[in-house]
Amino acid sequence: MASHPLVAAFQQAGQGHVFAHFEQLTPGQQAELLADAGEIDLAEIAELDRTLVQKNAAAGLDLTDLTPASYEAFPQNGGDAAAWAVAKAEGEDALRAGRVAAFVVAGGQGTRLGYDGPKGTYPVTPVLKKTLFQVFAEKIRAAGARYGRPLHWFIMTSHINHAATEAFFREHGFFGLAENTVHFFRQGRMPAVGFDGKILLEAKHRIAMSPDGHGGSLRALQRSGALDLMQREGIDILSYFQVDNPMVRFIDPAFVGWHLRTRSEMSSKMVPKAYAGEKVGHFCAQRGRTVVIEYSDLPKERQEEVDPATGRLRFIAGSVAIHLLDREFIRRMATGADALPFHRADKKIPCLDAAGNLVKPEKPNGVKFELFVFDALPFASNPVVIEASRADDFSPVKNAEGIDSPKTCADDQVRQFTRWANAHGAALPMDATGLPPFAFEVSPLFGYDEDSFAAAWAARSDAPVIAAGSVLS
Ligand code: UTP
Repeated sequence: MASHPLVAAFQQAGQGHVFAHFEQLTPGQQAELLADAGEIDLAEIAELDRTLVQKNAAAGLDLTDLTPASYEAFPQNGGDAAAWAVAKAEGEDALRAGRVAAFVVAGGQGTRLGYDGPKGTYPVTPVLKKTLFQVFAEKIRAAGARYGRPLHWFIMTSHINHAATEAFFREHGFFGLAENTVHFFRQGRMPAVGFDGKILLEAKHRIAMSPDGHGGSLRALQRSGALDLMQREGIDILSYFQVDNPMVRFIDPAFVGWHLRTRSEMSSKMVPKAYAGEKVGHFCAQRGRTVVIEYSDLPKERQEEVDPATGRLRFIAGSVAIHLLDREFIRRMATGADALPFHRADKKIPCLDAAGNLVKPEKPNGVKFELFVFDALPFASNPVVIEASRADDFSPVKNAEGIDSPKTCADDQVRQFTRWANAHGAALPMDATGLPPFAFEVSPLFGYDEDSFAAAWAARSDAPVIAAGSVLS
């Protein structure tokens, strides 16, 4: 057996089987295996084996003293209109000063959609079939023009899709953005282990590694130098969103203003849950801290509890994975004593058996470890949650069919465009759900939110005519 120090370290940690086939590998394969192994923190894996694999961690989840988190409601729902107006003005100032950058996490594997390629390259708009990345890029371009300050955009990829993502932007000329404002970096990886805590191999020269979850973004932002770049550019706030949601308002002045006014280190948008059992995280308060409890962890009775005073669900605040993060808070989370906890996911993981043959398991045979970004909330000072409208902020593409699919997302975009147009006298017909009998599209370069749409519409000398297949651009 080779006397590489990594091999010795793996043997000492009881993980020597990783190198069982080392002598049969070509020099190139040996280098690949050593590179995979070099990414692994053996002490971290030993600790996770003790705390997560050998124990059922979900059973240890602390659900005591949970109450619904408070949030800033919209003025029309009882919130303070003056405070919202001030927040919006302050957020606009921050955008004009270049203090905000966009940040998309695009390192997921998108297994539910079953699309071969980075999810950001998936076509989503109703008429032109623009891709997710193009929609975000055009929102960023339009906002840069509106506020007189180009926004920087950070894009987190994975090992699997990094090269393809960069190539896609290059092929499309960065969708009109200045190349030096678009920053790609890779998230970290974690090895999968069997239920016995042993690291799994997917080939004789390859460890079964997968992306470390969207929460891995915090350490990847630090490691990649993104935080230093932000500091040099005078960017204090990162606007975090997910790659699968083209409707997200990630350049939202009121949200930025609430974040700044409350001196929050991490802020989040909530939407009222559509029904008790909706599969979203729940914003809760727990002994003075804000936490997100996943639908799978919050007991059904609690999900269904009704507030007798209002007749509404008590735990109403659903998380839509939209956050603002303070730069130095990210740095503290990435480098300080506060660390995000890993979550365990039991999965079917193709891997080599003891004899070195590839096995495709029929039932879960091992554990993947993932970090979740919302687990940073309890560590943040003054976290604020604000209300958002589902119709204006959230319609993700998760599944190939059914809910949260390309079809529901395209329809929701058309509903939004229809609302905007009808607010300016377009008088488009629509069904009870707000959907017109035909599809049309508004380019983000025309309007990416209600305000920018209103400004573009008012600037036209004649009202645009909208019919099947129209594109306002
Ligand atoms: P999801 O939880 O929907 O996971 O990610 P996914 O991997 O994209 O899709 P499935 O579950 O395999 O079908 C939510 C967001 O977090 C990002 C995804 O790219 C998406 O924007 N993400 C997820 C990462 O960036 N890295 C990860 O390791 C996991």
